[in-house]
Amino acid sequence: MSAIVWWLVTAAMVAVHSASAGVVELNWEVEYKLWWPDCKEGIVIAINGEFPGPTINATAGDTVIVHVTNKLSTEGVVIHWHGIRQNGTPWADGAAGVTQCPINPGETFTYNFIVDKAGTHFYHGHYGMQRSAGLYGMMIVRSPKETLQYDGEFNLLLSDWWHQSSHAQELYLSSRPMRWIGEPQSLLINGRGQFNCSLAAYFNKGGLEECKFKDNDECAPTILRVEPLKVYRLRIASTTALASLNLAVEGHQLEVVEADGNYVAPFTVNDIDIYSGETYSVLLRTHNPSPSRKYWISVGVRGRKPNTTQALTVLHYPDAPELHHLPYPPPTTPRWDDYDRSKSFSNKIFAAKGYPPPPERSDEQLFLLNTQNLMDNYTKWAINNVSLTVPATPYIGTIRYGLKSLSYQKPPGKEIVRDYDVMKPPVNPNTTKGNGIYNFQLGRVVDVILQNANVLNGRGSEIHPWHLHGHDFWVLGYGEGKFRLGVDEKTYNLKNPPLRNTVALYPYGWTALRFVTDNPGVWFFHCHIEPHLHMGMGVVFAEGVDQIAKMNIPNEVLGCGLTREFLMNRGRH
Ligand code: C2O
Ligand code: CU
Repeated sequence: MSAIVWWLVTAAMVAVHSASAGVVELNWEVEYKLWWPDCKEGIVIAINGEFPGPTINATAGDTVIVHVTNKLSTEGVVIHWHGIRQNGTPWADGAAGVTQCPINPGETFTYNFIVDKAGTHFYHGHYGMQRSAGLYGMMIVRSPKETLQYDGEFNLLLSDWWHQSSHAQELYLSSRPMRWIGEPQSLLINGRGQFNCSLAAYFNKGGLEECKFKDNDECAPTILRVEPLKVYRLRIASTTALASLNLAVEGHQLEVVEADGNYVAPFTVNDIDIYSGETYSVLLRTHNPSPSRKYWISVGVRGRKPNTTQALTVLHYPDAPELHHLPYPPPTTPRWDDYDRSKSFSNKIFAAKGYPPPPERSDEQLFLLNTQNLMDNYTKWAINNVSLTVPATPYIGTIRYGLKSLSYQKPPGKEIVRDYDVMKPPVNPNTTKGNGIYNFQLGRVVDVILQNANVLNGRGSEIHPWHLHGHDFWVLGYGEGKFRLGVDEKTYNLKNPPLRNTVALYPYGWTALRFVTDNPGVWFFHCHIEPHLHMGMGVVFAEGVDQIAKMNIPNEVLGCGLTREFLMNRGRH
């Protein structure tokens, strides 16, 4: 085919694409604002004056363009589109130091990407601990031909909230010795919680005494008003900094149909567990005839000894009087350390019919040992004994321009650490900092085995929800204790494993996942617990380095560190 014919064909395809797909274009101003997320005044990062940020509504195939103006006067900002694969636009992924430079105060940066697949997603800050400061919102990508049937939908964005500022938290975690930030003061549903107030009493007595909020206050719960005999889709996302959560609706079952933007084989439960970075859609069928009452929706902490009261709101049927006393207390959250229950929920999740199975074999096996360590008396989290520090010059720029002046340390190992007893406290708790990355050729099938271990004081092992940027992966399985090389691979589910972008690593156990390196770019893979990431719990994958070197990356992405100098020098010559 001659070049000109090829060009015409391509141009025609582009035209068809833009005729059928839409553009969602948004102007956002990011700024600090005084807010009352839990009826107590605090400082949040708001978008266009709103907390949480506005919900993005798009249709699969749309181009999303967001002009982000940074109005935080003294710090940079970026926004990560959690769950969007950024095929062909890795520079729009919004991970500071990995795919772009932070946007300077006063400047505007434009994210421009295609949402290729329907699903329930969210977005959040990915610089410092700005997610903890409340920089987040929902992102719904609808399917032009939705196969699920429902009459209405609600978004429930779950988060946790501290009265201490995120700056103070960051400093505490980086102090020597480390000062732990403690459990959150409140849990928020759509940015609304009630600290130090019994919402149960509020609903039952009209709220005059215990809770000092009015129905139009920033902390008043969003009530879900439903009709009888209908099906509602609840789109639930967790952007917590720390807490693992459980959500239940009193008197109603939940049919789980979607996880992280992929359909799952439907299953029905009384409550769901949700870890930071995960999203679910559940279908809720309302009663008929309309009961003349309201029902509790409760969200509580799991996986860590809770010290935070449940977040509550209500499902409100039309016949229920506004001032109605709920006859029963809210559902109790299952015991925080009943990990068997958590695992049995995870083990109910399979891909929906119609998803092709994963490739049968992998080309590479990458073992990532998760440990808590000490480095000169600073507390760190490390992967294969390296605690990640993200460099000032974004990886994507260094790779794009082949900057030799910056050489990364060698990546942490790939192999299973044979003599490490994951049940015992670390023999040698020391670790080192590193910025090395894992390089993958395109088209490889990669297995990652996440291995959990005992913490420093030897008295436990924590849950780590791992999130991969730029991909969905298959969750092949979970296991207890140390992974047995050559044995545990045989237990993998290769028939109908769910596709996800976030997966839990349970205490003292392992989790195996598989993905295909089909998306040239530099992708963060990290624990979604904000303090853990801050303390180094992540790795970086570079995929198709020679493709990245040819990529058209907007210069505005790279206005910092060594790439800035490079681009300036190039402009001069
Ligand atoms: Cu939602 Cu890198 O995270
Ligand atoms: Cu973690």
